[in-house]
Parts: sequence; C-alpha cells; structure tokens
Amino acid sequence: MNKGRALLYAAAVVPSACTGPQRMLDTGATAARDIASLWWLFTALAVITSIAIPGLLLYAIQRGRRRYRGEDGGEVDGRRLVWIGGVTIPVLMLLTVLGASYMLSGRIVAPFEDGQEALTIDVTGHQFWWEIRYPQEGVTTANEFVIPVGVPVRLRLTASDVIHSFWVPQLNGKMDLIPGRTHEWWLRADTAGSFRGQCAEYCGMSHALMAFWVRAVPQAEFDSWVVQRAERAEVPAVTAPARGRSVFVRAGCDHCHSTPGAPLPAALGAPGPDLGDVGSRTTLAAGRMPNTRANMAAWIADPQRLKPGSRMPATRLADADMDALVDYLFSLR
Ligand code: CUA
Repeated sequence: MNKGRALLYAAAVVPSACTGPQRMLDTGATAARDIASLWWLFTALAVITSIAIPGLLLYAIQRGRRRYRGEDGGEVDGRRLVWIGGVTIPVLMLLTVLGASYMLSGRIVAPFEDGQEALTIDVTGHQFWWEIRYPQEGVTTANEFVIPVGVPVRLRLTASDVIHSFWVPQLNGKMDLIPGRTHEWWLRADTAGSFRGQCAEYCGMSHALMAFWVRAVPQAEFDSWVVQRAERAEVPAVTAPARGRSVFVRAGCDHCHSTPGAPLPAALGAPGPDLGDVGSRTTLAAGRMPNTRANMAAWIADPQRLKPGSRMPATRLADADMDALVDYLFSLR
C-alpha cells in the first residue's frame, strides 16, 4: 500500500465514527452517552501518551547530542524519571481507565432500575436477519424494532445458527447472540427517532448486510402499533390481492414465511422473516435496500446477487405473476 492511500484510509477511519446513521458519538440514550464519555477519556489519554512519548524521545536524543559535542546538558536523575514517567504515571492512567470501564459496565448492563416496568423483546439472530418477538404483546416482526421512548427494554438475545452481535451504537454497547444461550441486554431511548443497528460479529458472507433499525416512538404511538399488529396477525388480510396470494403459495414462499392468518408451525422455527407487516417496513432484506416495489421484485428474483449466502432461494416468475406477488406483499402492513 502506498503512503498516500494509507493516509487516506487512516483519515477515513476517524470521522466514520462521528457521521452517518450509526454515529456512536451522537447518542440517543444515557447508556450510549456514558460509553461516548468513556471513549473521550480513552482518546484523551491516548493523545496525551502519543504526544508525550515522542516528546521524551526527542528530548533524550537532544541531550545525547549535546553530550557528544561536549556541551554538558546538566544532570538528570534517571532513576526518578523512570519511577515517575515509566511506572507511576502509566499505572495511574491504567487504573483510571480500569476504574472508569468498571463503573460504566455496571451501569449499562443494569436494567435501569428506577421502578419502571420493562418491555421484553425476544430477538433471534439468523443468517442474515433479525427475528423480533414481543411475547407479552403477541407481536412478531423482523429487522425493524419499534420501542416506546423512555421505557427500559429488556432484550432476550439468542441465535438460530451462528454467533451474531446486537449493536445499536446510538443506544448502547454490543451484546452477542449465541445459539443455545439467552443473553439479556438493555436499551432505553431518551429521544424519539430512528437508530440504525448492525450485526457486529462476523457471521458469514453477508454479515455486513445484516442491519436493522430501532424506531423509538411515544408510548401512545407504540400502544396503537401493538394493537394494530396484534389484530392483523390473526386473520388473513381481507383486502389482500387473491392472485398475489396464490402466487405466494404456488411459489412455495409459505414454506418459510409466516403471513397473517397463516403462521408457520412453531416447531419449524423461523426459516424466513414473518411477513405480516412487510409492506410497511422501510427497508428490505435487513437494511439492505429501501423497501420499494422494484427492489422487492429484484430481491425475490435473485436474492444471492443482492445478499450472497442468504438462505432465500431465487424465484423466477412471469412479470404478471411477480407484479401480483409484489402487490400482495405490499398489502401486508
Ligand atoms: Cu450476523 Cu454478523
């Protein structure tokens, strides 16, 4: 790698944490703010060290030169310098970092205990999408969380295949999702808004395309979302285009995807995302692209091109059938 390119990469890494939809320093939650403060502390100490060490090195070189030329630079107590600069200061710095990390870790994994009742969400990581269930509310969706602002959210995280990691930089730190285990993790958004999350553990070819969104809304809006979702999950959508539904069944989509009134048997798990509200989601294929008709058709026709390693097989359909199928999917909301 030539020098220019190396500098360019280095320059790109610095602001990537501060801009874009996953700005970890532009926080929407107390937990994330605490993490950002710790980040600033680490950065400050690293900057001080990075300046002090070359400074001392230059000073030593200068002195050596002066001595060599016979211009005595005066005596320096070498032992004292080592004890202070080489032992005391580094130990104090490391203790500061350790103490701050320890205090922070206690705060971000706590259930934000202040007597507030928590909302529980079960999250299962799949290659390469997120299964989202609200057990108390009886709501199932995928890749797009809706949570009430200011309410502690208890996530119960697990995985169906390999290890994934749940990370919404603007809300809290990371937590792994491990097959056969359930990890508890907490979120609480202080402000309304959409926060982008990303799988943060390499999990296969499309790991980088395993994103999700957390939409924090006022409690009343959350409540009406729950009522609407729970109602519509029960019965087949009466307004659903019949032709599209029959293409859906004929193409075998119903073997992997639950739809309103046609849930998959629980024993099957969730081979593919629940499509009960797929028409109202903002993105498609776990944040891969905006949820438009054209993208939906392209995704169904050739998922591997858009998301290598995805479990979804390609479905070739005549244009009219594809149109009908897309109509049907967008009627599910
Ligand atoms: Cu899932 Cu990386």
